Amino acid sequence: MQSKGWIVILAATLLGGCATRFDLQAHRGGRGLAPENTLTAFSNAMNIGVTTLELDVGITRDGVMVVSHDRYLNPDIIRDASGVYLADKGPLISSLTFAELQGFDAGRIKPGSNYEKSFSQQKGLDGERIPALKALFDLAEKRGARDLRFNIETKISPNAASDTLPPEPFVRALIAEIRQAGLTRRATIQSFDWRTLQIAQKEAPEIVTVYLSSQQGAGDTVQIGKPSASPWLAGFDVDDYAGSVARAVKAAGGTVWSPNYKDITNALVRDAQSLGLKVVPWTVNDDADLVRLLDWKVDGIITDYPDKLRVLMKARGMDWPASYPAFK
Ligand code: G3P
Ligand code: CA
Repeated sequence: MQSKGWIVILAATLLGGCATRFDLQAHRGGRGLAPENTLTAFSNAMNIGVTTLELDVGITRDGVMVVSHDRYLNPDIIRDASGVYLADKGPLISSLTFAELQGFDAGRIKPGSNYEKSFSQQKGLDGERIPALKALFDLAEKRGARDLRFNIETKISPNAASDTLPPEPFVRALIAEIRQAGLTRRATIQSFDWRTLQIAQKEAPEIVTVYLSSQQGAGDTVQIGKPSASPWLAGFDVDDYAGSVARAVKAAGGTVWSPNYKDITNALVRDAQSLGLKVVPWTVNDDADLVRLLDWKVDGIITDYPDKLRVLMKARGMDWPASYPAFK
């Protein structure tokens, strides 16, 4: 009888509560802790316990879908075969074969760079490569991470058409990868480029789409008050929705809005949720911001520090996601 009780407690602890879950997302696998978008980072996030791995994808010249935030090789994190950091913006991912890409090291932020100062706690691992998306899916499967979710961002831009495949073949390739891995219920497709999401909704209605937005400075994808619609929003003009991004998301057929956390207020969260949308802001790293957003009852948070968010969730008595058994 007593041992049964312990089993129940153990199961509850391991599962961390599976009911309607707050979505704890490790941004780029938890960039604050491990080299971004690498298998090491994703594995670390599984050790910590997260609901979702947030990640970005591109496609190599020979058609391999890989996990990378940048359309080109980023000199802040990439070293060539001789171990030297790239002097400048490197080649486009789409110009390299997967084999060529494997010649570069993505395991450590360039010492002394501003980027390193922003993520000084990150533990580098020399020799880490830009992984294929399939390798990540395989890793999660090997780890038995069968509840783990994947929030996959298409890194294409309406302002840089020649950098990548066009939206349709790009999205079709991603849908095929997700379907092949049997992950249509555990993967979401996110993008600032809403063309991607419109195509995904049409071609794979079983996969949830996530509408990203930013209204900050040069990165403003929403462009309120401009004479024409923003090229990022697939023809939806937020001015037609009284300046409400949430209402534009709803009109576009979305169910999840993922805004820059700096763009939202409690009232905007309430309004979006009253429309039936989930609100999952990015990328939130400071305690005060995390606490404020938890107070506002957002549906999830994307953070570079999933460990920190877990502690805050536990302190509030919220359910927390399972950590997965270490890889053997
Ligand atoms: O999930 C949204 C967030 O990842 C967007 O920002 O630039 O890190 O891809 P970025
Ligand atoms: Ca991203």
